[in-house]
This record gives sequence, structure tokens and C-alpha cells, in this order.
Amino acid sequence: ADVFTYDPGFTSTASCDSAITYIDGEAGLLLHRGYPIGDLAEKSHFLEVCYLLLYGELPTAAQMEDFEGRITKHTMVHEQMLKFFSGFRRDAHPMAIMVGVVGAMSAFYHDSTDISDPWQREVATIRLIAKMPTIAAMAYKYTIGQPFVYPRNDLDYASNFLRMCFSVPAEEYEVNPILARAMDRIFMLHADHEQNASTSTVRLASSSGANPFACIAAGIACLWGPAHGGANQACLEMLREIGSVDRIPEFIARAKDKNDPFRLMGFGHRVYKNFDPRATVMKQSADEVLELLGIENNPTLQVAKELEKQALEDPYFTEKKLFPNVDFYSGIILEAMGFPTSMFTPIFALSRTVGWISQWKEMIEDPAMKIGRPRQLYTGATERPYVDIENRG
Ligand code: CMC
Repeated sequence: ADVFTYDPGFTSTASCDSAITYIDGEAGLLLHRGYPIGDLAEKSHFLEVCYLLLYGELPTAAQMEDFEGRITKHTMVHEQMLKFFSGFRRDAHPMAIMVGVVGAMSAFYHDSTDISDPWQREVATIRLIAKMPTIAAMAYKYTIGQPFVYPRNDLDYASNFLRMCFSVPAEEYEVNPILARAMDRIFMLHADHEQNASTSTVRLASSSGANPFACIAAGIACLWGPAHGGANQACLEMLREIGSVDRIPEFIARAKDKNDPFRLMGFGHRVYKNFDPRATVMKQSADEVLELLGIENNPTLQVAKELEKQALEDPYFTEKKLFPNVDFYSGIILEAMGFPTSMFTPIFALSRTVGWISQWKEMIEDPAMKIGRPRQLYTGATERPYVDIENRG
């Protein structure tokens, strides 16, 4: 019989070669194409990071202008897609809508689904990055019963998204530049993270030759889970459940109790056994946003600040190297900005789209690419004869 390496959870299996993102979990280091995430978050902006991830180098001014022009040209979604939204119940989770609508893009944009054509691949890439904020904002507007807000191409990527989410026809909406910068940072810090579960899902789905829209829909589905992108929503729900600062010790005790399945959401990471470098930047951003908007009247945010402090002082968490992760702080920022928790994971999905599509592009362009086909260690019955129904039991 064949002998296979058994590695449940893929803790020690490399599934591909990749030149996009480097993580050293012990050192708390994250590099995109060699550039540290801290430098990018401070000096760059989301669309520039998109260019870097996709094409491997920081763009020149002319390349940046051209790329931004191509993205803004594609921010609208096909008008007929709006009808697709209205097929969902109003109380649908926006992630459910996104899985459906993004998958359906293959039916609306089938002139960019032939993956053997480099031009079509490029158009699909631009379409996905350009339309994802519009789709996420529409999913939100639909679930709250407000009219869709069309994109405005004179605004930057983050401001445009905030406006599509928060503007209503009856009132003027001014995007606060501090909030736009914080939004842009959330996009940048979630842009790529090498072979995590959703990225591996996108790679596996595309290894069969499926079209990019279907593959990104698969990535969105995987991201939804609470151990992955769904952690930001789960974290805020946990903070609300804790409810007041005096109940924090009770929840910390539960997280430490091995007989209780409860975990502190937004804490811990498979790869980072040191502070997540994205969390360091996100924490600064959270502090800025909270200072701007104030937390005095928001008990959830007060609980978040105090929980962070108490967990970081507790030996259980420090010894197991469980630090707040990126989802802990992004949830706090999004809550302060006024997003409902159900929008947290869609925002992660729209940010991660560029990572998924960069990894997809790298894989498709690799001549060594073959279909992903893991094997198993079989533990079932050995061969046995079929038993007629009257002779069973
Ligand atoms: N609260 C309490 N204990 C924890 C936590 C936590 N959040 N995370 C891990 N532990 C403990 C766990 O019980 C285990 O203890 P022991 O060794 O005594 O059995 C030890 O730490 C190692 O945990 P693990 O489950 O073996 O580690 P993993 O690498 O399989 O899991 C994780 C990583 C992120 C799934 C996990 O830390 C977790 O469930 N965290 C909460 C969910 C979360 O915030 N996820 C977002 C991850 S970052 C962004 C993303 O991927 O989308």
C-alpha cells in the first residue's frame, strides 16, 4: 500500500512555492514581496499594496496612476446584478450574500472566465478588486433596507467604501479622513497572509481550472468560519456578552478552563507565537479612532480595552503566547466606526480578495501547477461482501 505523510491541520506541510508573502511567526515578522507590513501600513496605501502583491514590485507614479484608473473604471457592478441581491431575505448574513453574488459574477462577466487567456485573467483580477467594496456595501445596504449607493470614482478606495456604506440620499455624507485612513489600514493589514485556510481553499479550487469568480467565492465561504475571518464578528459578540468590565475575570477563567470549550476570540494565532505585527499597527489605529470617536458611552469598547490589559497580564496567555490578533483590534475599530458585527467578515473578505487573486495568479502562471489532490490514511472497514437487506441486523 502507498505510504502517506499524516499532517492533520497541515501544521508542517508546504503546499506550494510562493514569492508573495513571508511570515516568521517566532520573530513576529510579516513581509509582502520583502517589505515589512509596518512600513507598508505607515507609508503605503491599499491600492499600492494591491499592485505590489499582484505584480511583485512597488509601482512607479505612472504605473500607480494607470492601475488606479483601471480599478476605478470597474467599480460599478452590472445593473442586473442588483436583482440578484433582492432574491435574498433581508435578514440574510452579508457573507451569505457575498458568497452568492461573487460566485454569480462568473455568469455576469463570462468574458473574463477563460483562465488560459492572460488578458482575461487580468480583467478578472481588476474586476474583483474593483467590485468587491461595491458588492460588500450593497450587501449591507440591502440587509438594512436602504437604497444602494453607487460608487464615486473621485474618492479613494477606502473613502468610497465608507460612503457606499454610510451615505443616505437624504443627507450629505462627508468622509472623515482619519476614519478613511483607518479603513485603508484595515484593508492593507488583511490583504494577504500566505497559505491560510481561505487562500489554500482558493488555490485548491483553482487547481481544477475553475474560473476565478467561483474560486474567490470558495475563499469567502472558508473565511466565514469563526476560527478564521469570522473571528472578528465572534470577538465583538463575545465582548458584548461579557457586557461590563467587572465580568472580565469570569470569562478569562472560562478561557483557561480545559473543561470549558470557550476561548477568548481575537486571541492566539497558528503561526504567530509572538505579537502579530499586524495587531501592533491595528492597535495604534484603534487607539487613534477611539480617541477621535470616544469610548465613554460604549461599554463594548471599554470591555475590549480592559480585557486586552487583563489577558496580557495573565501568565496563561503569555506562557502560551496567546496575544490579541488582528481581528481583535479590527473589530474594535469597525464597531467604533458604526459597522454592525455582521459586516466585519465581509470587510475582511474584500481586503483579502487581492491576496487570494495574487496567489491564484501566481499559481496559474506556474508551469509546474497541477491539481491539488491530498491523500488520506484510511481507517474504515476492510473489504467485505455485500449483504442483502433481509439478511442484515
Ligand atoms: N483562548 C484560550 N485558550 C486558547 C486560545 C484562546 N483564544 N487559543 C489557543 N488557546 C490554547 C488552547 O486551548 C491550547 O491549549 P493547550 O495547549 O493547553 O491544549 C493552546 O492554546 C494551543 O491552541 P491550539 O488550538 O492548538 O492552536 P491552533 O494553532 O490550532 O489555533 C487559533 C489557532 C487561532 C485557531 C486559536 O488560537 C483560536 O481558536 N483563537 C480564537 C479564534 C481567533 O481569534 N481566530 C483568528 C485567528 S487570526 C486571523 C485569521 O486567521 O482569520
